[in-house]
Amino acid sequence: MKHLLKMLDLSTEEIIEILDLADQLKYELKHGIPHLHLKGKSLGMIFQKASTRTRVSFETGMYQLGGHPLFLSADDLQIGRGEPVQDTARVLSRYLDGIMIRTFEQKEVEDLAEYGSIPIINGLTDFCHPCQILADLMTIRERRGSLAGRKLCFVGDGSSMANSLIVGGLLAGMCVTCVCPEGYRPAADVLMFAHRYGEKFHLLTDPVEGVKDADVVVTAAWNTAPGTPESERRLRDFAGFQVTSRLMEGAKPDAMLLHCLPAHRGEEISAAVFEEHADEIFDEAENRLHVQKAVLAILLAGK
Ligand code: CP
Repeated sequence: MKHLLKMLDLSTEEIIEILDLADQLKYELKHGIPHLHLKGKSLGMIFQKASTRTRVSFETGMYQLGGHPLFLSADDLQIGRGEPVQDTARVLSRYLDGIMIRTFEQKEVEDLAEYGSIPIINGLTDFCHPCQILADLMTIRERRGSLAGRKLCFVGDGSSMANSLIVGGLLAGMCVTCVCPEGYRPAADVLMFAHRYGEKFHLLTDPVEGVKDADVVVTAAWNTAPGTPESERRLRDFAGFQVTSRLMEGAKPDAMLLHCLPAHRGEEISAAVFEEHADEIFDEAENRLHVQKAVLAILLAGK
């Protein structure tokens, strides 16, 4: 594994390796066992969008691994004033040991990897969110003991979260159902990948049918630009897609509910069901730290 650009690049073995190391690093952190695998190494963190979890967990994770994180706002870099990503990649490769980037276009992340000579980590693009999905898988395995054969149902927009969960869940041996309104389907190459798994994958438009007997239900915000005409359209298109206690009654009695956060209560999730599952949701947020430390240790120190 040279980079973490998208879930489609990973194998089942690589996912398990990341999760096993994440569990070990979490244990070591909780027991005060130092793990300074990245002493003397620097990570550039380029942000073109706002972030709470990704920024703080990567920055803290690098510190705990003995390395040095640099927060790089795209507004302050020359990349924000038109310097090509190809040049930025080649320059930053001369200073840093790795780059984590949060941006819009997946191509920008792929270009960084192509033109640079250091590991690149995708911290969210419009296409995918691999760090989040690895944390989700870690949380499910931690709470349920295993992933293979469990039923995962995503309810929401078929964009970055759905694209990554479908691939990550199937690679981990789970049965995956994705429930999206018409017009919000996952990416074509993700669906092509998923259809190779036959009956282990279903794409539906009815949340009630989708969550039936699920072990884990996952949702994410779909109204990310409130006050815009796009937002008005989404509020109409996603009517009936809110995850509520009532909807969860169709899942297994002990089903988990995950949300990558930030949550929009009253839109994709009800306030009541969020609080019922808050322990799982905040474990999931915490596991961003541990799983990303595993990714960093593997990519930057060959662990
Ligand atoms: N889930 C997630 O990526 O959170 P942030 O946007 O706060 O980084």
